[in-house]
Amino acid sequence: MERISDIGATPYEPAPRGESLRKLRNGGRSSGLESLKFALSIVLDCLTFVVLVIPILVRYAVGLFVSPQKKKIAGQLALVTGGANGLGREICLQLAKEGCHIAVNDLDATNGAKTVDDLKKMGVKAKFFKADISNYDAVQGLRKEIESSLGPVDILVNNAGVLPLMSLREGKPEDIQKVLEINLLSHFWTLRAFIEGMITRRSGHIVAIASATSYLPVGRLVSYVASKYGVRGLMEALNDEMYFDGLQNEIHTTTVFPCFMNTRKEVINTLQKLDILSRMPIFSTKRTARAIVSGMLRNQRHVFMPKYVGPFLTHYETIPVEIRRVATKLLLQNKGVPKLMD
Ligand SMILES: NC(=O)c1ccc[n+]([C@@H]2O[C@H](COP(=O)([O-])OP(=O)(O)OC[C@H]3O[C@@H](n4cnc5c(N)ncnc54)[C@H](O)[C@@H]3O)[C@@H](O)[C@H]2O)c1
Repeated sequence: MERISDIGATPYEPAPRGESLRKLRNGGRSSGLESLKFALSIVLDCLTFVVLVIPILVRYAVGLFVSPQKKKIAGQLALVTGGANGLGREICLQLAKEGCHIAVNDLDATNGAKTVDDLKKMGVKAKFFKADISNYDAVQGLRKEIESSLGPVDILVNNAGVLPLMSLREGKPEDIQKVLEINLLSHFWTLRAFIEGMITRRSGHIVAIASATSYLPVGRLVSYVASKYGVRGLMEALNDEMYFDGLQNEIHTTTVFPCFMNTRKEVINTLQKLDILSRMPIFSTKRTARAIVSGMLRNQRHVFMPKYVGPFLTHYETIPVEIRRVATKLLLQNKGVPKLMD
């Protein structure tokens, strides 16, 4: 595999083609009998696939009618990034209701302290940790601080994020870099910091707050959309990686796709600017956080908020783009989307 540190330094080697590629792909098979054996092994694989899939389909069918049991997290420790305000704060409160201790991370120490006070009143351990999660070294420092004062993290909630109202040509290059650092790279840093301990203990849960825009590519929000598509890809691949490592029943992942919530003022201002404030559903952080914690406790891989948008979002990209544009036009009452930056 290409070594990242060698990019541009080692000579480019083209892949084999033609006869040499065919030889590699056929594993040196030349006789008709060997080709037949190969074809039979493929048929056998297909039959095995069908047999193995049947019990899974039955489990899915049962799951449609029977809700899985909630797991217990009382006494465990959760780290919630961006826990001082908005959705993060409400996730802290909902986790505390389950008896979970909370490490609240944020850059906003004032509201972080308020969240901690409210959590303590609920009878759980809670502490505020100021750290910029877009910075790898700061995240490593955060891990050390949390582990030495509260212990190892069992549940990691990657919630902190920014919603820049920036089209591709607005803002500075550093702004785009910062959005990707906060909204996407930070997930890599916290995962690298905390997953090792989860793997050693063979227990853990990782929750990532993505967005409905992880499926809906909205113009004028290019960097945000790219970051949230990235979070979706990261979480899907991570879930697969846990499976390859035999940890699928021990380390769970939940990716959350919320629609609009009334958190910071800018969200409402944007909807107002687009003249769709009265045409869009806006959800409370409490309702969203309840859905997230409930999904997490049932080891749900995906949480859509509201639930009914799930089938629409996951199929959105298969809808012909002309049809999607008709819907957008109607939603925006034919006015188009202005540049959103002030
Ligand atoms: N509000 C919505 O309508 C909406 C919709 C879909 C998804 N989301 C996602 O939900 C998550 C929470 O959004 P919100 O609306 O509650 O946001 P918010 O702005 O209300 O709160 C985010 C918190 O994260 C903190 N934060 C930002 N950068 C940080 C950093 N580098 N290090 C540590 N803390 C940092 C902020 O100080 C703030 O307290 C975000 O990931 C957001 O993208 C929000």
